[in-house]
Amino acid sequence: MTDPTALSAPVAFPQDRTCPYHPPAGYDPLRTARPLTRVTLYDGRPAWMVTGHSVARDLLADARLSSDRTRDGFPATTPRFAAVRKRRTALLGVDDPEHRAQRRMMIPSFTLKRATALRPRIQRIVDGLIDAMTAQGPPAELVGAFALPVPSMVICELLGVPYADHEFFEEQSRRLLRGPTADDTQDARDRLEEYLGDLVDRKGAEDGDGLLDELVRRQAREGRPDRAELVALAIILLVAGHETTANMISLGTYTLLRHPGRLAELRADPALLPAAVDELMRMLSIADGLPRLATEDIEVAGTTIRAGDAVLFSTSLINRDQDVYPAPDTLDLHRPARHHVAFGFGIHQCLGQNLARTELEVALGTLITRLPALRLAAPPEEIPFKPGDTIQGMLELPVTW
Ligand code: HEM
Repeated sequence: MTDPTALSAPVAFPQDRTCPYHPPAGYDPLRTARPLTRVTLYDGRPAWMVTGHSVARDLLADARLSSDRTRDGFPATTPRFAAVRKRRTALLGVDDPEHRAQRRMMIPSFTLKRATALRPRIQRIVDGLIDAMTAQGPPAELVGAFALPVPSMVICELLGVPYADHEFFEEQSRRLLRGPTADDTQDARDRLEEYLGDLVDRKGAEDGDGLLDELVRRQAREGRPDRAELVALAIILLVAGHETTANMISLGTYTLLRHPGRLAELRADPALLPAAVDELMRMLSIADGLPRLATEDIEVAGTTIRAGDAVLFSTSLINRDQDVYPAPDTLDLHRPARHHVAFGFGIHQCLGQNLARTELEVALGTLITRLPALRLAAPPEEIPFKPGDTIQGMLELPVTW
């Protein structure tokens, strides 16, 4: 068993990646300290960092680790996160039994069956965006022309949010996840709350078929969710529903273009697509450092996590545990990658994963099929990607074909 105190110097978390599809080189010491070790957060606070696959799945399913961001002592990985920590965060930020009640209301809208039923609509959205790109280009900037609008249009339809407002909510969402200051993050959160609050109020008088419309009708029938809870649910669904998938589309495309052998393999055998999506999810692990607070002492891997300790899960390192994934730094479309934790694990495991997988299969599959000569339109090392303190993805992706 690795001695978690064995690291000679504390490693800072988070750090910027040097290559957008590999964990930061600065995390290398953490790789040799599985299954859990210590890191230091931006405010100097020490935290446990879980890096081993099996221990991660045990702990992510352990009710003694709380996700309730409003608890005193809940760890913040960035000043932005600290600024909005006390705000109401639905699903992601509540523990059972409240979590179970919220999740139960959502489940029918996020089943595999629902995602499969949406596939033709997603295909039309994807085809329409590629038509527009080919009418205007080459070249194109793929984040703005494709990666962001695909999930944005899909989540708008699913929720019943007007896509005409996309510039507004995409901007607030960007500020929420990547704003320059904590004040900016708070302001973005206020604006989203106001916008979705107004939308929900208007929906009371309409008869729409989006998920928010359904929730408003449920409220009228059963009194739950109340308005504040409904708005909090709308925020998490709208933000999580487009930002994450957009990053996976941009970074997934970049990664495939940087692995021409794998890309050729995928073009030759489209049946590989579902496995390729999971392998990209594993390798890219775009949501790193999932935060929890220990509410009781927990004995694990020969050590004790104390009540009140901060615990983080490094999905990028857990997904490269070589006991589970041989040659973990290699993109291998044939490996069984399905048990990665890039969607989390346990009660908070991504609600939108069926939808995200479907969107990724359709978006990536169609892009590489319809544009067989797709390539980067700038030197790869000059293309900017996101800093380490937010969800990982490309800031821009200039392409040609
Ligand atoms: C590829 C894209 C996506 C990635 C990488 C991703 C990643 C994650 C991760 C890691 C978690 C768990 C967080 C934790 O345990 O602390 C999570 C939860 C969640 N995700 Fe996703 N997600 C993606 C797409 C989506 C989409 C399309 C939606 C649609 C609405 C969505 C909605 C949610 C929600 C609501 C939760 C909280 C679930 C709960 O606490 O019960 N995600 N996601």
